[in-house]
Amino acid sequence: MSLVGKNAVVTGGASGIGLATSQRLARDGAGVAIWDVNEADAQRAAAELVTKGVRAIACRVDVSQRVQINAGLERVHAELGPVQILINNAGITDFTPFLEVTEEGWDRVMSVNLKSMLLCTQAVVPDMLAAGWGRVINISSSSAQAGSARMTAYAASKGGVIAFTKSLALELAATGVTVNNVPPGFVDTPMLRSSDRPGGINVAGVAATSPMKRPGRPEDIAAACAFLASEDAGYITGHTLSVNGGRYIA
Ligand SMILES: NC(=O)c1ccc[n+]([C@@H]2O[C@H](COP(=O)([O-])OP(=O)(O)OC[C@H]3O[C@@H](n4cnc5c(N)ncnc54)[C@H](O)[C@@H]3O)[C@@H](O)[C@H]2O)c1
Repeated sequence: MSLVGKNAVVTGGASGIGLATSQRLARDGAGVAIWDVNEADAQRAAAELVTKGVRAIACRVDVSQRVQINAGLERVHAELGPVQILINNAGITDFTPFLEVTEEGWDRVMSVNLKSMLLCTQAVVPDMLAAGWGRVINISSSSAQAGSARMTAYAASKGGVIAFTKSLALELAATGVTVNNVPPGFVDTPMLRSSDRPGGINVAGVAATSPMKRPGRPEDIAAACAFLASEDAGYITGHTLSVNGGRYIA
């Protein structure tokens, strides 16, 4: 799937699913801008791509902050050019029993996981509209599809991502810009590893309960993103492409 001549912004691209997606889009020919709050890891990831001949940059961007997003986009325009592919992947998890969820905790999850969709997409879509071609791919979660105990804030934010995707897809359908979402099942990333605590989840538990008897790999999600970003996916919009090894079958 050739993405030669395209530029992609991957939020949360310094780790896990975002890192694998940056590497996959780069392998398919795209220039890649990694936006992440973890500047050191983002720089390392971009530098590794550059050594392979990829046009890649890293920007310290908190996806819940419009000013930082605008600054990040200015750098992308200056160093790579206009953006045709946006992977809205940055996210944080939260395992809190419902009666202990605080307003601050709720707002933080909503800001990073859901408000970021508004801010990053509003910033980048004008490039796509100008080109008459674009791909917005939002990472949601099987937790929103199936429900997840002790994850009300997280699951609600990701349910919002799915509703946001469908609505924006309809609004942009005639413009050449598609908007889709990928809800991963449990994927072996630093996020999943950090969830290994009482009330959380862990890799062994996921492997035991998964229909495929293994957690997802970041590359599994990256492959779905690469497909949705490709020319071949041009007639797909508003879609939820579940990549979960059978954890949730709609
Ligand atoms: N791993 C899973 O099992 C799983 C399952 C379903 C959905 N997801 C979703 O996939 C996405 C990626 O998760 P992952 O498992 O790769 O996690 P991860 O923690 O390995 O990577 C997330 C990246 O996002 C960055 N980030 C966090 N907050 C940010 C912010 N405010 N601005 C910019 N960057 C920020 C982190 O620094 C990190 O590099 C998330 O949206 C997550 O909710 C993951």
